[in-house]
Amino acid sequence: MTASARRAVLACYYSLLLHTMASAGDVFDHGRHGTSLAHVEEAKTRRCSPASVSVVGPPKPLLIAAPCDAGEYPVVVFLHGYLANNYFYSQLLQHVASHGFIVIAPQMYTLSGPDTTAEIKSAAAVVDWLAADGLSSTLPPNVHPNLTVVSISGHSRGGKVAFALALGHAKTSLPLAALIAVDPVDGTGLGKQTAPPILTYKETSLRVPAPVMVIGTGLGEVPRNVLFPPCAPLGVSHAAFYDECPAPACHLVARDYGHTDMMDDVTRGAKGLATRAVCKSGEARAPMRRFVGGAMVAFLKKWVEGRPEWLDGIRDRPEVAPVVLSAVEFRDE
Ligand SMILES: *[C@@H]1O[C@H](CO)[C@@H](O)[C@H](O)[C@H]1NC(C)=O
Repeated sequence: MTASARRAVLACYYSLLLHTMASAGDVFDHGRHGTSLAHVEEAKTRRCSPASVSVVGPPKPLLIAAPCDAGEYPVVVFLHGYLANNYFYSQLLQHVASHGFIVIAPQMYTLSGPDTTAEIKSAAAVVDWLAADGLSSTLPPNVHPNLTVVSISGHSRGGKVAFALALGHAKTSLPLAALIAVDPVDGTGLGKQTAPPILTYKETSLRVPAPVMVIGTGLGEVPRNVLFPPCAPLGVSHAAFYDECPAPACHLVARDYGHTDMMDDVTRGAKGLATRAVCKSGEARAPMRRFVGGAMVAFLKKWVEGRPEWLDGIRDRPEVAPVVLSAVEFRDE
């Protein structure tokens, strides 16, 4: 067992103690599995001789949230937002994992300019590493990934990168089961898309080979104050993405929450402070995090596991969500 797998096992015991009382079934609550959270370091290329180069570990540092109970679980990749850390989402990732998913969140870069081309390639490299069975040694014993298919998700610019990957901007070696974009952003405003542009401004032009869920925030398009532009400007954000998705697709918008409100309650450091200082926020982050986690789980349960009851439940009775929804749209097959 590797050190990270050992840490994951320890984390499991603690998390099991905390969650034995959690109720089962409701996607907006913590699920029935205790979860582990492991940091896995980036591969170091070892040159044994000029002719042989061996690589161990993933192409990017990873944060992995996984159920503790033995079993085989579907895999979801989660791509962080612009200049964010993957661990700003640790509570969200664990929420999803507690419902029986292995969630892989790469740290795409520490600093990056507006062009996302390199990021799309890195995301593809992470998927290829999963396909090459890199994951097994990092998980607790008897916890196995089902890599028949993979789902891709991402927040903000990570949502754009998720779309780019799904649309084939970089080739990957696993078929896509589902795409989830959380308040995706394709640039700094209408007519100011960052490279490569994803939105085309033509209806149903984003021919993703899988069902798509687009989650939006009502306050993402509102500036925090006069100093900063909005974090998810109108015209390059969730509604524009949803408009361009063919069926099956759905669109859920949390009316009273902001662009970074699905992150952890505590996000430290300069980047962590920026998540609150730059973007307009709702009240507490917990309801938004429960909503986003639950919506992701409901969508994955339907499209990866063939169990539509939770997504149908949100569609029929949006008031079951822990936040007010200003849009509940479904485009059926
Ligand atoms: C693995 O995933 C595929 C596709 O979702 C599914 O058909 C299969 O039953 C899964 N296998 C297990 C052992 O759960």
